[in-house]
Amino acid sequence: MMIRTRKRMRKWQMMKYELLFEQAKGILEVEPWYVSALSNISSLIMTTLSDLNWAGFYLFRNGELTVGPFQGKPACIHITPGKGVCGTAVARDETVVVPDVHQFPGHIACDGASESEIVIPIHAGGQVMAVLDIDSPVKNRFSTEDQVGLEALVRLIEEKMNWAER
Ligand code: SME
Repeated sequence: MMIRTRKRMRKWQMMKYELLFEQAKGILEVEPWYVSALSNISSLIMTTLSDLNWAGFYLFRNGELTVGPFQGKPACIHITPGKGVCGTAVARDETVVVPDVHQFPGHIACDGASESEIVIPIHAGGQVMAVLDIDSPVKNRFSTEDQVGLEALVRLIEEKMNWAER
């Protein structure tokens, strides 16, 4: 019974991520300019996935991360590489999943409601160009299925995004 429920949950998760991917693809095909696309994709993440309190992007600019399009409460504006969860993902150039932000040394608390977090680096021309940052008010919110689904979304952004200034 438990196994069947878990299987069904996993299937439901996969369907959600397939929908998210297809909708993001549509957004990027209509307008790949990063301001429009990242704004709509942050809204898409927030409205498609459950139990989130912040979803958005930090852009690598002048040697640091600067907050970009997002959904949620106002967030800290600048993050130094190596600092917080976002800066750690940049320094390591890998996805960082934090099941409990209170256990992560140096976690930067922008919204006191955040309990868990996932950050995924986004590349262009072989360099980290931005990160996708998602916070949840629930501990252990981000499973392996979430990581796989969100990394596929980031690969799509890397493929389709137009980073030109205007
Ligand atoms: N918690 C992040 C800061 C950004 S907010 O979550 C929006 C961090 O530690 O890098």
